[in-house]
Amino acid sequence: MDQQKLTSYPKEKINILLLENISDAAVAEFTSAGYANVKRLSGALSEEDLIREIKDVHLLGIRSKTQITRKALEAAHKLQAIGCFCIGTNQVDLKSAREMGVAVFNAPYSNTRSVAELVIGLSIMLIRRIPDKNAAAHEGVWMKEAKGSYELRGKSLGIVGYGNIGSQVSVLAEAMGMNVFYYDVETKLPLGNAVQIRSLQALFEMSDIISLHVPSTKTTTNMINKETLHYVKKGAIFINYARGEVVELDDLKEALTSGQLSGAAIDVFPVEPEKNGAAFASPLQKLPNVILTPHIGGSTEEAQHNIGLDVSSKMLNYLEKGASFGSHTIPAISVPAVDHTHRILHIHQNVPGVLSEINTVLSQNKINILGQYLKTNETIGYVVLDVDSKLSKEAFSLLREVNHTIKARLLY
Ligand SMILES: NC(=O)c1ccc[n+]([C@@H]2O[C@H](COP(=O)([O-])OP(=O)(O)OC[C@H]3O[C@@H](n4cnc5c(N)ncnc54)[C@H](O)[C@@H]3O)[C@@H](O)[C@H]2O)c1
Repeated sequence: MDQQKLTSYPKEKINILLLENISDAAVAEFTSAGYANVKRLSGALSEEDLIREIKDVHLLGIRSKTQITRKALEAAHKLQAIGCFCIGTNQVDLKSAREMGVAVFNAPYSNTRSVAELVIGLSIMLIRRIPDKNAAAHEGVWMKEAKGSYELRGKSLGIVGYGNIGSQVSVLAEAMGMNVFYYDVETKLPLGNAVQIRSLQALFEMSDIISLHVPSTKTTTNMINKETLHYVKKGAIFINYARGEVVELDDLKEALTSGQLSGAAIDVFPVEPEKNGAAFASPLQKLPNVILTPHIGGSTEEAQHNIGLDVSSKMLNYLEKGASFGSHTIPAISVPAVDHTHRILHIHQNVPGVLSEINTVLSQNKINILGQYLKTNETIGYVVLDVDSKLSKEAFSLLREVNHTIKARLLY
C-alpha cells in the first residue's frame, strides 16, 4: 500500500499563505511536497488586510500576532487549515473555526528540549551563586570564595509535573549525577532511576532544587504559596519555567529574603508585558541569587525550526490524507489509505441522523464503502470514507448534498 498516492486536487491550485516570518523549515516542507504557490509575508495582518488576502487561500500559517476572527474566517471560502506556528492557539476564534470545519494545528511540544536544557544550566548557575558573583564583578568587586557554592552531582532534584518537559529535565539531571524525584497528579512511568513521590510536601522536604513543570489550571493556580513553601528544605533552590499563575510571588519573595530558599530562577510571571522593550516590574527584582528572564524558556532557533516542521507536516497530512490528529477543531482521525480507493472527507454538524443519511444515500446508489471512520466533538462530526475509485466522484456529489454538511473534500 502506498499512502503517498493520496493527494488532494491539483497541487498547483493550492494556495498557501504564511505570515509573521514563519521559519524556512516550514516553507521547505511545503515546496518539497510539490506546493509552489507559497506566499510569505513578514508581518502580521490586520483583520481588514487578512480578509483581502485570505479569499483564495487553502492553508494559512500564522504565529501569535495575527488574530483570526469570525469575520476573517467567513471571507476564507477555500480555507482548509490554519497552522499556528507557535505553542498556543488563543489568537484563533476556535469556536468559529470548528463551526466552519477549518482545522487548526499548533506545535505544543517543539520547545521541550530548549526548556529542559536551560533548567539544568540555571541549576548550575544558582547552586554556584553565579548571579551574585557576576553582579559583583560587574560592580568591580572580586568575590572569590567557595563558601555556599556546590556541585549538582549528588543533589536531589524535585520535579513538579512529570510531563514532556519535566521528564526531559529528569533525564538530563541524572546525566549530571543528580537524584531525581517527581510529583505528578497522574501516575507517570519514571525515566532512568527517577522516583515518583506521592505528595508535594514530601517532595519539597527532600529536594535541594525544585523545578516546576505543570500547566496553568485551577488546581495549579498559586499552588506554590506560604503554606507549600513552608515545607521546602532550608537553603533550597526554586525554578519556575512553567507558568506565572502557579506561584504566589510575594510568598516566594518572603521565602527568598528569609533564607528559606537560597536562590531562584523565574521566567514566567502572572502579568507579563505584551511588547518587547516594555516596562516590567516584579517583587523579585534586586533580590540576591535570583535570575529573572523574559519568558524565553522555549525561545531558541532550534525550537522555531521544530515548530516549522511539526505544524507544516500536520497541515500537509490533513490536506493530503485527511489526518486530523493534533487539530483543535476537527475531531482526531488518523488512518492509512486503502488500495484502489478514493477518500472522501465529510465534515458536518453533529446532529442525529447525518451518518445514517450518508450510508443510506450511498447504498441506494450501490456505492460500496470500503472503509469508514467517524469521530465527533460537541459541535461537528468528521467522517472519512474510502470508496471505490471508479465511483468516488458520484459518491462525492451525493455526499455534498447531505443535510447539515459543512465541508466535503475528495482526495484522489
Ligand atoms: N518558559 C517557557 O518558555 C515555556 C516553554 C514551554 C512550556 N512551558 C510551560 O511548561 C509547562 C509544562 O509543559 P509540558 O509541555 O511539560 O506540559 P505537559 O502537559 O506535557 O506536562 C504537564 C504535567 O503536569 C502534570 N500536572 C498537572 N496538574 C498537576 C498538579 N496540580 N500537580 C502536579 N502535576 C500536575 C500533568 O499530569 C503532566 O504530567 C506548561 O505550563 C507550559 O506552558 C513554558
